[in-house]
Amino acid sequence: MPARASPANDPLMTFASDVTLGLTREKQKELPSKYLYDELGSVLFEAITLLPEYGLTRADERVIRRSAPETGRCFGGALIAELGSGSGKKTRHILNACLRGPSLTYAPIDLSATALAVCAGQLDNGGIEVHPIAASYLDGIGRAAALRQRKQKLLVLFLGSTIGNFDRKGAVEFLRKIGSCLLPGDGLLLGTDLEKPIPKMLVAYDDPTGVTAAFNLNLLGRINRELGGDFDLRMFQHEARYNAEHRRIEMHLRSKADQAVTIPGAQLRVSFVCGETIWTEASHKFALAELPRMAAEAGFVHQQHWIDEEWPFAESLWVRVAGP
Ligand code: TRP
Repeated sequence: MPARASPANDPLMTFASDVTLGLTREKQKELPSKYLYDELGSVLFEAITLLPEYGLTRADERVIRRSAPETGRCFGGALIAELGSGSGKKTRHILNACLRGPSLTYAPIDLSATALAVCAGQLDNGGIEVHPIAASYLDGIGRAAALRQRKQKLLVLFLGSTIGNFDRKGAVEFLRKIGSCLLPGDGLLLGTDLEKPIPKMLVAYDDPTGVTAAFNLNLLGRINRELGGDFDLRMFQHEARYNAEHRRIEMHLRSKADQAVTIPGAQLRVSFVCGETIWTEASHKFALAELPRMAAEAGFVHQQHWIDEEWPFAESLWVRVAGP
């Protein structure tokens, strides 16, 4: 019997119900950031990584290159899983450093089959056996762990400061869940964007070229395309703010007028007052001193870190310890 479409198995229904939930919230309207990355959004994000103002991705790559020899010493011959399909360019440094013998198994984990295919295309050579896993991060780590050979260590890569998109409590909970999929001695290589002067952080998320604005506004475009919405994108404005209490950049879309929007695919009509915003993403920034504490809370020991001097960014190597 064919499965009936329900929010659980139909991505469009899930999108519709997430949009309804977010836009009918009483105080701050919200949309989940994962929906920023449709085909157009993913291309726009690639463009963001090339912006001179957005130093994060380049810092991540530089610091990975520097950390690779030591990571290779600790995790040579390990099975490597990556949360998010990553870019071949960045991950290649670590894979090469960990390669022992004829081949190394690399399991990128991503919900998007397209992203996995691109990643596999970039890396499937030079002794790297790519084993793509189309799943959520935690399910994927479970499946990757099942691939390990006897006594083989598992090294999980979580690069690019994606951890900053969780709120602080959620981040530690998520890291603890990763830890619970691992065995003592397994590793986590974690990228975290560090706090820097506020104007430098703000312009990284509100570049003068307008690429980041386009990336953010595309979320409304996606609602129009996939759910038949009638958002007038010109009536919303991209806004990046620094929230000092939570030490995070917040991305919003601000309504330029009193207006109403209809979204037939979600059976929804929403009103906006002039100046009201939809919150689309948070990017938490970290202090170096809080990283070992987070490691301990999540069941790891903070073994070593590398910092990029040009764009403060830390790559940390954590090792799973026995325990809960
Ligand atoms: N979440 C990533 C980050 O915090 C990606 C990102 C960059 C982003 N610019 C953005 C997300 C603008 C939403 C809006 O760096």
